[in-house]
Amino acid sequence: MRFGVCYYPEHWPEERWAADARWLKQIGVSIVRMAEFAWSRMEPEEGRFEFGWLDRAVELFAREGFDIVLGTPTAAPPVWLSKKYPSTLPVDEQGRRRNIGGRRHYCPNNPAYREHTRRIVTAMAERYGSHPQVIGWQIDNEFSGGNTARCYCSVCEQHFRAWLEKRYGKLNALNAAWGTVFWSAEFDDWGQIGAPVLNLASPNPSHVLDYYRFSSDSLVDYEKFQVDLLKSIVKRQQWITHNFMGLHVHLNYFDLAQPLDFVTWDSYPTGNQHRWREMLYGPDAADANYAFDVGDPAITGFAHDLTRGLLAGRPFWIMEQGAGHINWGEVNTLIRPGTPRLWVWHAIASGADAVVYFRERAAWHAQEQYHSGLQHHDGSPDVGYFDQQRLWEERAALEQLTAQPPRAEVALMWSYDDLWAIQLQPHTKDFTYVRHLFVYYRALQRLGIPVDVVPPSAALTGYKMVIAPTVHLADSALAEKFKNYVKQGGSLIMGVRSGFKNHSSAITSQPLPGVFRDLVRATVTDWGVLPAGVSFEIESSVPNLGGQAGTWVEALAVPPESEGARVRATYLNGPYAGKAALTENAIGKGRAWYVGWLPTVAQATAIIQQRIQRVNVARLAELPPGLIAARRGEKLVLMNFTDEPLTANVKGNALTVQGRDVAVVTSDG
Ligand code: GAL
Ligand code: ZN
Repeated sequence: MRFGVCYYPEHWPEERWAADARWLKQIGVSIVRMAEFAWSRMEPEEGRFEFGWLDRAVELFAREGFDIVLGTPTAAPPVWLSKKYPSTLPVDEQGRRRNIGGRRHYCPNNPAYREHTRRIVTAMAERYGSHPQVIGWQIDNEFSGGNTARCYCSVCEQHFRAWLEKRYGKLNALNAAWGTVFWSAEFDDWGQIGAPVLNLASPNPSHVLDYYRFSSDSLVDYEKFQVDLLKSIVKRQQWITHNFMGLHVHLNYFDLAQPLDFVTWDSYPTGNQHRWREMLYGPDAADANYAFDVGDPAITGFAHDLTRGLLAGRPFWIMEQGAGHINWGEVNTLIRPGTPRLWVWHAIASGADAVVYFRERAAWHAQEQYHSGLQHHDGSPDVGYFDQQRLWEERAALEQLTAQPPRAEVALMWSYDDLWAIQLQPHTKDFTYVRHLFVYYRALQRLGIPVDVVPPSAALTGYKMVIAPTVHLADSALAEKFKNYVKQGGSLIMGVRSGFKNHSSAITSQPLPGVFRDLVRATVTDWGVLPAGVSFEIESSVPNLGGQAGTWVEALAVPPESEGARVRATYLNGPYAGKAALTENAIGKGRAWYVGWLPTVAQATAIIQQRIQRVNVARLAELPPGLIAARRGEKLVLMNFTDEPLTANVKGNALTVQGRDVAVVTSDG
């Protein structure tokens, strides 16, 4: 278990550094992350390097016993670079070349930018690549942040054509896959294909989906370019990572994680809810009456669990932990003593091995003047400092957690391709891919059941239950994998819009759910959207399952001759009255369920509860809303995100946790 802080020597008078280092040591901070925005100071003009100041900062912190993480500074190219090489600036969907003055103003495919990247990264790697206390590297900063997932410049278009040629081989294959005959858009030359922008009416969704994939691949490729470069120079003990953004959805995070030794993410719990609330809840309210300054632990927890899943459960870091108020939300609430501590416990209990605070001291200038640090602007300690003091006293308990990997018996399937395909054609604004997953996530979190968020490519055999709420783009290999998983005793829950399309986003000509029909042994005979306020009643043999089905409904039919398949819920009214809404199919030792509507959290809870009894998934505790449970090894952590005491039932024992407090229980199984 390590604690760190983001430190910007270039923001402070050099006389201050030593005092800051000593001050940080007192509270157990032993890692500093530096330099990720310091390009203009490291290379003030093309090819002229000034590393003296960074040498002195690195040496000073090293002498004081700190380990150092260096960021490659490519998220913020210096002014001279953008001005001298304007083609490195990205182009937006309106065809406008974007300006300097913020950050992330570069195109990842631009060859000149690659060369500048090569020069600065090589220079840093040669200088610090064998320093004993430089323990690792962060590539760039928050790829795709601030709406920079996609560039539409002519270089990108050229790369896009090459990307398509590799994917489809022949132009005919592309025309067929996209269905370009529709609206007379058939291509007879690769050179005719551009980015899907400035179209009239609307672009072809297959075209757009491929541009999203290509753009994601471009950033992954740019990351890999830096990873390979670093690896070729630095000593092997220095690891390489990147700081992800939790539930950010514009980049394929599973791909972005691949080249890295481990992943990290930047957690700002009060900001997370501002960023993702609409996507996750829509018009619904949050689950519980959380304390005003803690954020929403369902959102933060979902991001922790997704991050952990990016490299198949490998422990992660928090590279930026907000420890006080932020500056980029709608209402940047103050943070009370005790809240940062709760966030850190939540991160560690969810699988983080280190927490690096953002940032050491609040900045005097520029874009983030109103953002807090561990120190106020005047250098006096802010709330994060005092909480860190307390965490440092608790380090033995935290180390018992980091000594063990987190383990889950349930997997929740997440696919960026499915997310994008549905985002491009939601059919109703109320259908959001991530919101659908979040319904199941919240049900699991309420039930006290740990979950791994996994990609479709994940190995499933270790899980007792797999929830794949929507597998929209599918192929028979995945259907086969699901089938084998179920045969061997697995419990699979699938849901609406599954098996709809192939990977090019063309709809299957088979009855739905397409490739999964044999697996669920049910057919979707009708499907459709209901506007807000309209829903159909359902009746079910599953305990506690009933109520209304809305937003998206599918009528299911189980063929009469089928063995093993049966109806578990039925529509009572509306056009689907009498038809199945939920089916179960027994294959081998397991069961595959198909949920034909978008369930509420209560309905998802009832379904999960029925299934976990059959396959023996352990619940960590019975929890009231606002109390969250997580587990590493034999340590169970209960975290109260409300202001009032809350009581959990842990295997028959009542356990009360004070408001915004944490309790650790040693449990055996
Ligand atoms: C992060 C970013 C940091 C800083 C921080 C402020 O997204 O990586 O550089 O801007 O937000 O909360
Ligand atoms: Zn570009």
